[in-house]
Amino acid sequence: MNDILFSPTQFGAIELKNRVVMAPMTRSRAGEGDVPTELAVEYYRQRASAGLIITEGTQPSDAGKGYCRTPGIYSPEQVEGWRRVTEAVASEGGLMVSQIMHVGRISSRHNKQPDSETVAPSAIQAAGQMFTDSHGMVDFDVPRALATSEIADVVEEYRQATENAFAAGFAGVELHATSGYLPAQFLSTGTNQRTDHYGGAAQNRIRFVLEVLEAMTAVDGADRVGMRICPGNPFNDLHDDDPQATFTALLQAVDPMQLAYLHVIRMPEGPVDNLALAREYFSGPLLVNESYSADEAAQTLQRAEAAAVSFARHYIANPDLVERFKAGAELARFDHKTLYTPGAKGYTDY
Ligand SMILES: Cc1cc2nc3c(=O)[nH]c(=O)nc-3n(C[C@H](O)[C@H](O)[C@H](O)COP(=O)(O)O)c2cc1C
Repeated sequence: MNDILFSPTQFGAIELKNRVVMAPMTRSRAGEGDVPTELAVEYYRQRASAGLIITEGTQPSDAGKGYCRTPGIYSPEQVEGWRRVTEAVASEGGLMVSQIMHVGRISSRHNKQPDSETVAPSAIQAAGQMFTDSHGMVDFDVPRALATSEIADVVEEYRQATENAFAAGFAGVELHATSGYLPAQFLSTGTNQRTDHYGGAAQNRIRFVLEVLEAMTAVDGADRVGMRICPGNPFNDLHDDDPQATFTALLQAVDPMQLAYLHVIRMPEGPVDNLALAREYFSGPLLVNESYSADEAAQTLQRAEAAAVSFARHYIANPDLVERFKAGAELARFDHKTLYTPGAKGYTDY
């Protein structure tokens, strides 16, 4: 009855064998030098029956790192580590996209190299704290506002990360543009108080994301580049005065680029109907997310409201989620305590 979940679809140049996508999830298991380890190879290999696996958020530079033990995709060792991951997944018939995540101000210097800075559109510290291995819970850093002339360097980090991702064997890349990280900080009035042409009116606040997408799509075309959004998401102390207007302007500018897909997180209690907004202003394939069951996912696809559905939490304890959905089998529950702890426990032993 949910057969549509197991039918193929296409995101631009990316061919999905089914419409059950593994959503990006930070799991904090990277090794020395923020290189994916053999444990990550095993973790992703176990989940290769997904129609597509989107990696955990991956930093394009050390400055773009926020949480502890997250992997990067800027050093040769990191690229080689990811190549081992994509090869293992490909050997099981799976396909992967790399999620490029620059956290901007959602960072602590204790989680990165001593010479790395924490940067953002404006020097406004986020309320709240984050975990560090060396100092436990700490306040977020006070970020340094990027100079206008430095923004091109950050855009270049995204371009290089995209090139590296393709060298590592990824089928595509996804720009993480939600959850209060750098692109979202540029988009939102609360975090972007710039007076140059990257701040002020929505047409200016969307400029950073557009430049990043232009750089990413210049590497090998737009049909291997996706973007993830959740308009109105207040996570990580994010506030925008008018997310409906901001994201309308953004999607109107992005749509002609013909990206491979748009990954939209719904937020039923939020200020914007995210799925309706995406359907209105984005004409390419939609990947939808947040609290879907197999049945609801299948109904959504049957109504042609999306091309595929992504699942995050179900994938933690159910590496064989596709097989379980097919069999109508019960889903295993995951242990919250081991979400971000080092080692195999709660990672590859489900
Ligand atoms: C442990 C964990 C880590 C996450 N890390 C990321 C991340 O790195 N990038 C991202 O875009 N979303 C991240 N998310 C959000 C998920 O991709 C997803 O949007 C959310 O869990 C809702 O989907 P679900 O109901 O299928 O779990 C994370 C979620 C969880 C539970």
